[in-house]
This record gives sequence, structure tokens and C-alpha cells, in this order.
Amino acid sequence: MRSVQVPLGDRSYTIHVGNGLLSKLGDHCRRLKLGERCVIITDSNVGPRFADAAVRALKMAGFVPSIITVAAGETAKSLKVVGECYDQLAMKRLERKSFIVALGGGVVGDLAGFVAATYLRGIPFVQVPTTLLAQVDSSVGGKVGVNLKAGKNLVGSFHQPKTVLCDLEALTALPEREYRSGLAEVIKYGVIKDADLFRRLEREMDRVLKRDGPTLANIIARCCTLKAEIVAADETEGGVRALLNFGHTVGHGLEAISGYGEYLHGEAISIGQVAAARLSARLSGLPEKDADRIHDLFVKAGLPVTLKLAPKKREALFEAMRLDKKVSGGELKFVLAQSIGEAAWGQRVPDAEINLVLNTLAGGDPARP
Ligand code: GLY
Repeated sequence: MRSVQVPLGDRSYTIHVGNGLLSKLGDHCRRLKLGERCVIITDSNVGPRFADAAVRALKMAGFVPSIITVAAGETAKSLKVVGECYDQLAMKRLERKSFIVALGGGVVGDLAGFVAATYLRGIPFVQVPTTLLAQVDSSVGGKVGVNLKAGKNLVGSFHQPKTVLCDLEALTALPEREYRSGLAEVIKYGVIKDADLFRRLEREMDRVLKRDGPTLANIIARCCTLKAEIVAADETEGGVRALLNFGHTVGHGLEAISGYGEYLHGEAISIGQVAAARLSARLSGLPEKDADRIHDLFVKAGLPVTLKLAPKKREALFEAMRLDKKVSGGELKFVLAQSIGEAAWGQRVPDAEINLVLNTLAGGDPARP
């Protein structure tokens, strides 16, 4: 097992990466001195696979767990579902010392974390991420929240988990599409902060796609270490944490205009990162051949890299991007790379440049939509 520390003073915690961690959930919670009563929030896909094991592990350590199961999918990240969870927590008589276990992917983690951040003005929670995307990104760092119709994650809070348990065994049953979606966040760390990781992914993508255990353990632990460093330096995204939004301006916009259904998050940010790489080549000095390498690695990972939008949809994309917390003086702000492994946030990008790059992603002449 590997451990990564997230040093945040009295909110510090450990991320554990290894096999069979779900069966040790109760022991970890016991060590954290959490209250007796707890609720596992999971979804209709993950619950049937893992909730029994979580309940067993918690009971064996003396806890009194119950389960809330929400419908699988991005639609669970809504204020309506948050309200339903509050009602159930009240019915189950959760107290200030009680805790929530988020058992599932990024949607469950964000939802359960937001419920924990706000119920009784905040109760502890533990992340047990069961997807690659949640293990390398969303379960770490305390960003929790839900979507509005107008955009993704527009309501939320910062609420750090007490611990994160990344059980590699959970990844073996992950549907191929979801697994590849997680790789989009893995590649992102290489682009923004770790050229060695990026080269390693170029070399070892075949092994990564076969879900080779030791390769995965190394890569997940590396991503968690990079995320921990960024979060420790800037917990509430006043600066460097914004780097993690590489590819997310276009990506979140795309998810919003397609009703959070057509693209998985990783697929949307794959297209978004290719767009950001092309913008970086035009505006921030990224060599064209490195923008090509970024494009090619997403292709190798089996992720989408093209985008064809009708004119009305493109307008909707711009509108959604403007709502996505990343605007300054009316101009959209992007994270752009200078080289692979080095990026800068807060780069203002004129609409005309975005249009040129969107034309390229549509496979056409950059000058013509
Ligand atoms: N997923 C981006 C962040 O945690 O800041």
C-alpha cells in the first residue's frame, strides 16, 4: 500500500492507494476516531457491487452504518437530490460526530461531500472512490458541490475528507469507457506539472489500458502526490490550483450544452485539453509538435479529440463557458501550457482564437467555421 499526505494543518489527511482497502474501511475510520453512526452514500451502479462489503467492514469495527442509494449518473449532482439526502440523514438521526462515506465515482463524491459540508453546518466524511477519475482527481482536495441547469459545479464548498481510500480492486470491474475517461485526468497531470509522467504515459499506455496492477498503483499514487502538492499550496483556488482546470473551460461548457449526458467528464475534458493545447501553441509558446503529442496521447488512450458543432451549438458553448467561473472583463480565461509539464493559469483568450481552434477540432480550415 502507498500513502500520500495532504498537509493542510488540522485538516490534513492521508490518501491510501492499494488493493483490498474497502475491507479495511472500518479500521481506517476507527483510527480517525469518527462517531459511531454513519451513512454510506452510493449510487445504483456501485452500491450493488460494493455497499455490502463497506457495511461489513464498518460493522466489524463497531460502527452503525446505513445506506443511501442515488440514481447513477450526473443528474444526481442536483439540489433536489441533496434535499432528499438531508431528509434521510435527519430520519437516520445523524449527529455532528456522525460521518458520511462517499462510495462511488466523482458524482457520488461531489454530492456526498456537499451533503457532509452542509448538513448540521458540516460533518466529517470519508472518500472511497471507485473510479479512476475519482481516485486521481475528484476525491482529493475537498472540492464538493452540485450542478445547476446553467452550469457544472455552480453550487459548492470546500470540505476536506478525513481520509481517501483508493482501492485498486474497484478498478478491475470498471466499464472500459469510464476507465478511459479517468485517463483524461491522468494525462492532464503530465501536461500541467510532470513531463516525466507524460513521457511515461506515452511509453506505457498499452500497459495502462490493460490495467496492469503495479503500473496503475504507481501512476495513481503519482497523480495523488501531484494533486496533494497543488492543494496544499492553494486549498481554495486563489492561484496555482487553477492549473487543474486545464481543458476544463471547453470541457465543462461541452458537458453543460449536451445536458450532462452525451459526454463523460473525461471525454469532455479530453476534447477540452486538445483545444487548450492548440490554443497554447498559438498563444503561449507551446511547440506545435508538443501540441501534437498531447493530441496523440489522448488518441492512444481512446479518448475523443474532435468536435463538430452546429453554429447554434457553438454559440451555446460560448455562453456556457462564460458561466463557468472562468471569465475576466468579459474575456474567457484559460489554463495554457508553455511546454509539456509547465502551464500557467488565468490566460485571457479572445473569442476569435477560440473560434479558430474550434474550427480545427471540427477538422476544417481554421479560418472558416
Ligand atoms: N478537480 C479540480 C480541483 O480539484 O481543483
